[in-house]
Amino acid sequence: MQLPSMYLNALFLLASSVLAAPNHDLAPRQSTQKVTVDLTKRYQTIDGFGFSGAFQRANLVVNLKEPKQSEVLNLLFNTTTGAGFSIVRNGIGSSKSSQNDWMNTILPNCPSTPAYVWDGKDSGQLWLSQKAWSYGVRTFYNDAWSAPGCMKTNGQDTNGGQLCGVSGTNCKSGDWKQAYANYLVKNIQLYGENGVTVTHVGFLNEPDYSTSYASMQSSGTQAADFIKVLRPTLDAANLTAVGINCCEATGWSVASQHASQMASAGVIPMLYAVTSHEYTSRISGVMNTKAKVWQTEYSDLNGGWSTSWYSNGGTGDGYTWANTVFNGVVNSNLSAYIFWEGVQDRATNNNNNEKLILVDGQSYTVSKRLWAFAQFRVVRPGAVRIGASGGSNLKSGAFVNADGSVAVVIINTGTGAQTVGVSLTGSTLVNPTVRAWYTDNTHDMSETTATVGSDGTASASVPGRGMISFLVSGAAANATVVAH
Ligand SMILES: *[C@@H]1O[C@H](CO)[C@@H](O)[C@H](O)[C@H]1NC(C)=O
Ligand SMILES: *[C@@H]1O[C@H](CO)[C@@H](O)[C@H](O)[C@H]1NC(C)=O
Ligand SMILES: *[C@@H]1O[C@H](CO)[C@@H](O)[C@H](O)[C@H]1NC(C)=O
Ligand SMILES: *[C@@H]1O[C@H](CO)[C@@H](O)[C@H](O)[C@H]1NC(C)=O
Repeated sequence: MQLPSMYLNALFLLASSVLAAPNHDLAPRQSTQKVTVDLTKRYQTIDGFGFSGAFQRANLVVNLKEPKQSEVLNLLFNTTTGAGFSIVRNGIGSSKSSQNDWMNTILPNCPSTPAYVWDGKDSGQLWLSQKAWSYGVRTFYNDAWSAPGCMKTNGQDTNGGQLCGVSGTNCKSGDWKQAYANYLVKNIQLYGENGVTVTHVGFLNEPDYSTSYASMQSSGTQAADFIKVLRPTLDAANLTAVGINCCEATGWSVASQHASQMASAGVIPMLYAVTSHEYTSRISGVMNTKAKVWQTEYSDLNGGWSTSWYSNGGTGDGYTWANTVFNGVVNSNLSAYIFWEGVQDRATNNNNNEKLILVDGQSYTVSKRLWAFAQFRVVRPGAVRIGASGGSNLKSGAFVNADGSVAVVIINTGTGAQTVGVSLTGSTLVNPTVRAWYTDNTHDMSETTATVGSDGTASASVPGRGMISFLVSGAAANATVVAH
């Protein structure tokens, strides 16, 4: 989106005044912090925020009775009352059954002549995707953890192995790159026939890790061998709009290696996004690649179930997750941030924090991690990150949405409440629409009044260790244009 030049001249100023002493008998020490939002500085485009229902977890929502089923769907997808997630990551199954963490494949007999078997459920993920679609979600990332076993060096979809036909493999059964590409296309077509347009496809998951569930090893170079087959296969199937994502490394440093290996192999132009997880190394800095970068799976695998917003910086805390997502999209040029499981039950993995909502039979409990993501729901798919700087004890990121509205997300890293003022310089607000929402230990994306002063300053209070999101829209956003 190209902004009108007069729009580019508009600067938003965020000013905050700090009340150091809550005791009003004492003269409060006032300090004003300013965060300058600069529409002339334009960075990456945001594709969205998401989660997965892989490993049968989607079925937990399928099996909920009303009204709880709708309540959970609203928590995940509703853009006015919930997290407003905009991306669903589906696992493309490669296993023969749907037990435990397995997802059944559409090629159960793995013959040389494909005989696809579609059960119309896909481990509950088709239903979840159809529901997401009804909420307006339009980004569906279908990702295979592994090729079916017959296509691999180890003859099984689990315990690593490689795709026969990529460099370094020499399988008696021959080259399976084309068959695997056809198989992925079939998955996309089946979703399409069922009302869900898949926009992105992946063919690996943690290819630097070998485990007893579906897994397949690959370097970036080997991935490139396959991308050279997959891209023309998608195009020939009229799926030119489907982007290829790769390679879902366990961590940022391996993902960076993948990026450089794929660049050497010349496949970056065939790629949509380089994808990384954050388990073995955290996201830091900006990856050296011309492709977009997505964080596609991360969670706290160790901590016991926690619904805290802030408990001394625990890895499952909502506040920690607010900072984690912020680091990805504001500091590290990510275009998407995808959590691991949206829902999970109590029994799995000792009821840890790898889910946003605990669904146990017919009851559910919401973690503050979900509300950390909800604070980013003001940033809609297609938004472009713009400049935001200044302000101690405040972390801020700003985005201009496709409709021209401006979203500003702010984390108060201080322990005390602050009044944050949003104002425009070089312009005058006329009938502005400024809304603000915040989350802390006792609030979940609660709307708070943003008072707009005669000087155009919109003010709202954010608690210590809280997060606040502003949305300046309608007349306000236009007013920045008409003022001059
Ligand atoms: C989102 O929640 C609001 C408020 O409860 C409701 O009116 C709306 O229908 C919900 N959106 C969808 C798509 O269900
Ligand atoms: C390919 O897609 C276009 C537009 O999406 C459609 O008009 C056309 O019919 C499709 N062709 C085939 C062969 O499916
Ligand atoms: C950020 O990502 C975009 C692609 O989304 C890329 O064009 C741009 O070069 C990246 N920025 C930096 C500083 O690498
Ligand atoms: C700006 O005004 C135009 C026309 O009056 C309207 O269509 C558009 O939605 C407004 N933009 C925003 C961001 O409100």
